Amino acid sequence: MKRLYLFGLIAGLSLHAAAAKTGPDLLDDKPAFIASLIEQMTLEEKIGQLRLISIGADMPRPRILKELAAGHIGGTFNTVTRQDNRPMQDAALQSRLKIPIFFAYDVVHGHRTIFPIGLGLASSWDLDVIAKSGRVSAIEASADGLDMTFAPMVDISRDPRWGRTSEGYGEDPYLVSEIARTMVKAYQGESPAASDSVTASVKHFALYGAVEGGRDYNVVDMSPMRMHQDFLPPYRAAIDAGAGGVMVALNSINGVPASANTWLLQDLLRRDWGFDGVTVSDHGAISELMRHGVARDGREAARLAIKAGIDMSMADSLYRQELPALVEAGDVEIGEIDSAVREVLGAKYDMGLFHDPYRRIGVARDDPKDTNAESRLHREAARDVARQSIVLLENHDQTLPLKKGGTIALVGPLADSYVDMMGSWSAAGVAKQSVTLRQGMLDALGDEAVLLHARGANITDDQHMVEYLNFLNWDDPEVVQDPRPADEMIAEAVAAAEQADVIVAAVGESRGMSHEASSRTSLQIPPSQQALLKALKKTGKPLVLVLMNGRPLELNWAKANAEAIVETWFSGTEGGHAIADVLFGDYNPSGKLPISFPRSVGQIPTYYNHLRVGRPYVEGKPGNYTSQYFEEPNGPLYPFGYGLSYTGFELSKVRLSSPTLPREGTLEASVTVKNTGQRDGATVVQLYIQDLVASVIRPVKELKAFRKVVLKAGEEREIRFSLDEDDLKFVNAQLQRVAESGEFEVQIGLDSQHVKQQRFVLE
Ligand code: BGC
Repeated sequence: MKRLYLFGLIAGLSLHAAAAKTGPDLLDDKPAFIASLIEQMTLEEKIGQLRLISIGADMPRPRILKELAAGHIGGTFNTVTRQDNRPMQDAALQSRLKIPIFFAYDVVHGHRTIFPIGLGLASSWDLDVIAKSGRVSAIEASADGLDMTFAPMVDISRDPRWGRTSEGYGEDPYLVSEIARTMVKAYQGESPAASDSVTASVKHFALYGAVEGGRDYNVVDMSPMRMHQDFLPPYRAAIDAGAGGVMVALNSINGVPASANTWLLQDLLRRDWGFDGVTVSDHGAISELMRHGVARDGREAARLAIKAGIDMSMADSLYRQELPALVEAGDVEIGEIDSAVREVLGAKYDMGLFHDPYRRIGVARDDPKDTNAESRLHREAARDVARQSIVLLENHDQTLPLKKGGTIALVGPLADSYVDMMGSWSAAGVAKQSVTLRQGMLDALGDEAVLLHARGANITDDQHMVEYLNFLNWDDPEVVQDPRPADEMIAEAVAAAEQADVIVAAVGESRGMSHEASSRTSLQIPPSQQALLKALKKTGKPLVLVLMNGRPLELNWAKANAEAIVETWFSGTEGGHAIADVLFGDYNPSGKLPISFPRSVGQIPTYYNHLRVGRPYVEGKPGNYTSQYFEEPNGPLYPFGYGLSYTGFELSKVRLSSPTLPREGTLEASVTVKNTGQRDGATVVQLYIQDLVASVIRPVKELKAFRKVVLKAGEEREIRFSLDEDDLKFVNAQLQRVAESGEFEVQIGLDSQHVKQQRFVLE
């Protein structure tokens, strides 16, 4: 099949191609190959390449096959098996020029095996662990015939009201950029052409995480300095790491929708950053240009999008409907269509599809008998990654780890929920294959202890919320209400707690509460669950909270009342085992928060790397006329970079190799970190820099390096960081990246707030 296909294509090309090359040579010469293909294409075929069709939403399957055979579709998304994809590729190869299509999907934190959500992955602060999740995802996705993932999602989020905070990697440009780079490399493996690689399409370009008020799809208005300094670096990092695709954001930026933004897509992305991959719109975004009010009609919307630089239109019929007439009328140049087609064909070329369109689909006889077979999962990797994503927020009186003995009461609506464990965007993961906390604890305990279980509360008793969360899924509602009255459920949980030595309460959000279109005005655990927690507290039994949620929550009551709090996010297929590993001390927690937890929703934004002000709040000395809210202290409840362990760690003073950093040289900052407790454990040493005086206001601190360190009980180790001029660069008022001479403070800590400092001078 493969050979026949190639000869057919090459023969066709060499008949028409201007270049007098032989077939196989041409196939190995990407620009010439693509140029000769474009030369042979009709306008209709070219426009076909620009269409990215959503399977199941855009049109019925038979029509899709017909359009494929006519060469009118460039790629599809939302199918996840080889059996599904093969007939579509067969159809595409029946088209006149036999141009293969590619298959895409939202593989965001796992494909069949689900890893923790983005915030969880970021909480590991371990790039090897994060890479493992990406590599496994690519292996599984490519084995299902997929060529591209709409990931990584690298939108910086400083507003936890935004539901998509869950998908990203938190608030910090440096950490998120490191993860962006890691994920692109992990997805694309040795090369995007490898049969076990998927092309990364980084999203959402750009600034989607900064939607006003955290309300999804809202506008973004941001100074250029802030953009370049804080929000754009992760996309840039993904592109520099070789991401083959960019998904354009749904939001507008300073008055111009990203999908019609020539500054964004041409000046910045192509000219300044040198991106040479394919751009795809987000779902239906081109039609939305009319609703933004920048296009009168579909024709204008299509014209704006193609001229701005959107190569492929996702789930949108406007390119097909409008581009032919626009070209005929001369409103869109054929050259503009050709450059979009060139990028699409280039991406397919890089995916290896011209060499073998079945590279990832394979042959039918090799298809897995059961796509959901247990043997196709990577449970060990999932458990390892998940345990490293868990953050211990509180642990009074060594409540944790729990003894494997006595009686434990496990309560809460999330204690036995398969579907929530998966988190949002759980790709092809099968909920029933996930391990709930209840199952994880049962497996850990065997018959060594008694585990009592009671649901205790519904996620929420607010019917409006339940309907909202279930609105896409009426046939198979995700949030299933226990019909019993709340009091009865609480009484059952309290009765279990009274018989137990300790209570483990699994509370938080259902996965849909932290999702696309799930912005919230409150960061509270819903009232139904709060009532349960208050009743449990009255029993006087030690209360361990296991939180599942996709955004920072307001945890004042919990902090004041729970003996221990474990932040588990939504931890994926092996979540229950991973959490049990932490609860019982089989794994010593090492996660650190990648995002600040505010004290209240009114405090947002609470990000740690904020700019200095003229009247700063001074901790312990709150006074009038300083920058603060007067009802509560400034600063987060739990800071960026924070997380406890079952052992203790101590940092020495910071040592600098020299008081000055020469422009061309380096300076070493080192500390000794010691495990002062009785257990082996890991922590993350974090290095922040403050530029003390500069031509523009600089943040109070910025993360510049970090290192995860594993230490045996009592062990100590010297950690050295090498700094150079580049680490001190920032974006000045002229939007240049510069390092200005003067004094800097290096701050090293185990979170962003408790640090040891030293100063040095950049010459
Ligand atoms: C989301 C994207 C996603 C796309 C395709 C959109 O609604 O914003 O993140 O990749 O759908 O599923």
